Amino acid sequence: MRQKKVSRYTVTSALPYANGSKHIGHLAGAYIPADVYVRYLRMKGEDVVFICGSDAHGTAIPNQALKERTTPQSIIDKYHVLIRDSFAKLGISFDIYHRTSEPIHHQTSQEIFLTLYNKGLLTEETSDQYFDVTAKVFLADRYIMGTCPRCGNPQAYGDQCERCGSTLSPSELINPRSTLSGNAPILKPTRHWYLPLQQYENWLKEWILESHKDDWKTNVYGQCKSWIGAGLQPRAMTRDLDWGIKVPLPDAEGKVLYVWFDAPIGYISATRALFKELATNVRQYATPRRNFGEVKEEDWKKYWQADDTKLVHFIGKDNIVFHCIIFPIMLHATGEYIVPDNVPANEFMNLEGDKMSTSRGWSIEMHDYLKDFPGKPDVLRYALLTNLPESKDSEFTWNDFKDSVNNELADILGNFVNRVFVLTHKYYQGILPDPSGYELQEADRRAMAEARNAYESCGTKIEQSRFREALAEAMNIARAGNKYLTETEPWKLQKSDPQRTETILINCAQIVAMSSVALQPILPYTERKLREGLG
Ligand code: 2FM
Ligand code: ZN
Repeated sequence: MRQKKVSRYTVTSALPYANGSKHIGHLAGAYIPADVYVRYLRMKGEDVVFICGSDAHGTAIPNQALKERTTPQSIIDKYHVLIRDSFAKLGISFDIYHRTSEPIHHQTSQEIFLTLYNKGLLTEETSDQYFDVTAKVFLADRYIMGTCPRCGNPQAYGDQCERCGSTLSPSELINPRSTLSGNAPILKPTRHWYLPLQQYENWLKEWILESHKDDWKTNVYGQCKSWIGAGLQPRAMTRDLDWGIKVPLPDAEGKVLYVWFDAPIGYISATRALFKELATNVRQYATPRRNFGEVKEEDWKKYWQADDTKLVHFIGKDNIVFHCIIFPIMLHATGEYIVPDNVPANEFMNLEGDKMSTSRGWSIEMHDYLKDFPGKPDVLRYALLTNLPESKDSEFTWNDFKDSVNNELADILGNFVNRVFVLTHKYYQGILPDPSGYELQEADRRAMAEARNAYESCGTKIEQSRFREALAEAMNIARAGNKYLTETEPWKLQKSDPQRTETILINCAQIVAMSSVALQPILPYTERKLREGLG
């Protein structure tokens, strides 16, 4: 990989569908790691924007509206707020939490579609698709059910069989039926605009397979390699639906942009919205976490078009193909945008031995956690970070949760900090003395070196997107502190050797300070308490 000059960062987390609440598996996948990364960059004084928002399109939304007997609009309004507020309470520090239902997003998506169209990069094709004669609509894949050709499950969807996990296309289903009317659909020709992905295979090979061999995660690189190796097909960028962004062409009545065309563009329109709100000083979606100084509306462009911007997408593994293949092809094809420098996708987090799923009721929803453990965001951040599905699926259990809180957060960090604060208050009324003779012994040097190594390694691990190890290193600082206290036992020396006691406690306070700085991006609420304690 060529090292590029980086002057600023654009960091995104997957835009969740606003069709329901989100669970802690989502949080562990694309939000907490991104938040740690961004807080770390901000701490280093880097120029960074952290972007997210609600994905308001796709069939998931009207589907949910049918279930709740309401309109798609009221679905996205309700869940946008629920999800946004849960993220905020868990300390996910987006600079903007936007939504793809906003006009600026419709405009941005249509502009990009037209750029590709006007450059002659989209092909128009007519094909037969399932049509429900009763409901008078073309059926999106999710609206067609039938028998899975692989395992015989009679309840397979047009895009996937949830029993055997196969990816399907509607034409493969045996005895297809419409979920809207229950009737068998007919095949009817329809016209769509396709992005010929296969034309970009060589570019992808060079950009991903050669340039990112060493710096992308193995799971991400491996998936890309197998997609590219299998050969890419043209993919329709439009759909016959009445919910979505209108295709901006004169002869496209009843057609909207494919949700996976518009959703990732949502990152761009959210960045546009952020700079608009900053420049005009009107706040609707933005919560800027640093001082952006004087900005102009057009400044969003630097974050998407300047070669010295590092673009990083945090996602779950089910979104890899969209963020590593389809969206980058769209961006590259416009000739105006940069492509991602990294896509550190995570695997899935299971719950007590089974796949997490909101619809099956097997999950811990973010807002439920917040209700049950009010004011305890860091405990969840800690439990998820120690167990992040970075290279393979991981498992959340309530027993582990309890252990990580009691045996690690309380015993290691809490215990060390508490002992240092109690002794400092007891001996010096909370104000560390000027050392009367600050002479370091071997044990002091060793403890400080251990703490410093862990501290430095914590930062390196964050830069490498190894957040589990970063947290372990941050905790190693407190471990070094505990060991040092146990070895030196300052409480036994206070009377006989007050000078030595001072030295030890000053060193301990420095170790607490190191813990606090290292924990700042990871456990921001705990860090604030430590900093207050240190005065
Ligand atoms: O899988 C999902 O929940 C999608 N809504 C993610 C979209 S990410 C990006 F493309 F916006
Ligand atoms: Zn099946």
